[in-house]
Amino acid sequence: MPEQTLIIIKPDAMQRSLAGKIISRFEEKGFQIVASKVMVVSDALAAKHYAVHKDKDFFEGLCKNFSSSAIMAMVWQGNNIIELSRKIMGATFAQDAKPGTIRGDFSCTKGFNLVHGSDSLESAKYEIALYFDENEIADYDLSNARWLND
Ligand code: RTP
Ligand code: MG
Repeated sequence: MPEQTLIIIKPDAMQRSLAGKIISRFEEKGFQIVASKVMVVSDALAAKHYAVHKDKDFFEGLCKNFSSSAIMAMVWQGNNIIELSRKIMGATFAQDAKPGTIRGDFSCTKGFNLVHGSDSLESAKYEIALYFDENEIADYDLSNARWLND
């Protein structure tokens, strides 16, 4: 199975109608979307999603913003997608992100950085399971798409 990751279009990006542009970045790279849903994250889910940061001083504000309005949660797949999607998104603080990245092109703030992507195989597995049942993730045959296996 190709590597999979959880990508989330955060509330600030949804409010700014940037979902299409963000999805295009991943499509243009050659990745496939295999699951998606629009939802409002509960306080409990936000705390689980950002559990690794639970002792940080920014945790409360981070969870509050994340659960403030609709997000789009997605599972994407492709070669080396975890590392490459983090490059596509750019540096954590959008003000530091390079032009050509999602955060660098569409945000000039610090914490309102538009998009989330899992940072390791372990966190991708954990995070995907927070948002999707296995039967909500499409499993389609790409064995004839030879460019994918190049
Ligand atoms: P994310 O998890 O949201 O995709 O972002 P990331 O991996 O690039 O950054 P991470 O270190 O996981 O931090 C999660 C979110 O917390 C906010 N943050 N604030 N010192 C701070 O004030 C601080 N550090 C991190 C950011 O909004 C970041 O997206
Ligand atoms: Mg992170």
